[in-house]
Amino acid sequence: MRMVNLIQKKKRGEILTKEEIDFIVQGYVRDEIPDYQISAFLMAVYFKGMTKEEITDLTMSFVNSGDTVDLSKISGIKVDKHSTGGVGDKISLIAVPLVASVGVPIVKMSGRGLGHTGGTIDKLESIKGFKTEMSIEKLISNVNKHKMAIVKQTQNLTPADKKIYALRDVTATVDSIPLIASSIMSKKIAAGADRIVLDVKVGSGAFMKTVDEARELARTMVEIGKLTNRKTVAIITNMSQPLGREVGNANEVKEAIEVLNGNGPEDVTVIALTIASYMAVLGEAFKNFETAYDELNKIIKSGKALEKLKELVMIQGGDPGLIEKPEKLPKAERHIEIKASQKGYISEINAESIGVSAMLLGAGRQKKDDEIDAAAGITVTKKVGDEVNPGETICILHTNLTNYEEAEVMARKAFVISDIKVSPVKYIYEVIE
Ligand code: URA
Repeated sequence: MRMVNLIQKKKRGEILTKEEIDFIVQGYVRDEIPDYQISAFLMAVYFKGMTKEEITDLTMSFVNSGDTVDLSKISGIKVDKHSTGGVGDKISLIAVPLVASVGVPIVKMSGRGLGHTGGTIDKLESIKGFKTEMSIEKLISNVNKHKMAIVKQTQNLTPADKKIYALRDVTATVDSIPLIASSIMSKKIAAGADRIVLDVKVGSGAFMKTVDEARELARTMVEIGKLTNRKTVAIITNMSQPLGREVGNANEVKEAIEVLNGNGPEDVTVIALTIASYMAVLGEAFKNFETAYDELNKIIKSGKALEKLKELVMIQGGDPGLIEKPEKLPKAERHIEIKASQKGYISEINAESIGVSAMLLGAGRQKKDDEIDAAAGITVTKKVGDEVNPGETICILHTNLTNYEEAEVMARKAFVISDIKVSPVKYIYEVIE
């Protein structure tokens, strides 16, 4: 096989065989195929697409390029969840303890945030002492006993995806549905999931900017799940404004506690309960979605869900007292209020701009190895559809930096105020099974 011929084949829109896809992926991981040929191949995929079978072969080739996690010693159906990434997305912090509280075993391997989207690992590390690394033996014993673990993805999981993702980043080929779908599904399969719930975000803070694109991505991933025997449900959720009111690591932990206490903002509560309900149904704790939603809601109201988060913090070395007293989580020195300049209604809050502003305040990394500040972030005090008067606070920036002008300009520009009242946004667009 010659790489140039395979690029040619894809350039003409022809279908590649499993052996040809393996040749490309494994050859690249072994440094036998240079970046320039893989770049040309990625661009051919970008323009010509792939069939569901090709995407599944690509996914499994990524899985087989590195280690896979064997969770067979954990009893029960292991359900995993994945979000395509957003601003203020603290759903995992809520869904993991909630689903574990009904006995479904959850092993959540998470990543760090990069750019304007936050990562679950960074959020959890704002809880003093919380450890996100553990041996596989400890992970299995924790999940068998407590039904849950949230850990950092192991180093050698899907190295082909890591290497190809880095190349996509610099060759303008990130936003290709076959490439995104195989990248996400390979990580879930390698991490040992039996069944998967995907939160496919759509809007200004997400990779997918339209519902049509999100639907295509969701359908592709559900199809990969079918072809690899891992039942997958995808939920298309709104990311056209930040999720909830809090953005930033400690801030988001505080808001997750509020949701688990039964007094969180409605959008995060509804989305978290929906995701958790599908996870619980896939884990066979309930027969249908409606029952799961009602029962999980009752568990929140009873205080049991928050107790389960406290248990998670305790078993992973964190200080559970911080869950009882979230006001003791890291706090920034400076709080800058951004005020409305005119009367009207909030018609838009650009989620990406809020994410970038929070990053500039210290909440995220601009480069891979940057230190992050757990206390930095933004509280969004007015959401789309809310009425505002001149001088009223629309958001508050939290930072320990003295140089926050750029972040302030960015946050201010994220808000659009109009004379006409717009309807509040829809939280969930579609569920694809
Ligand atoms: N998230 C991933 O893990 N991979 C992609 O390609 C895009 C988003």
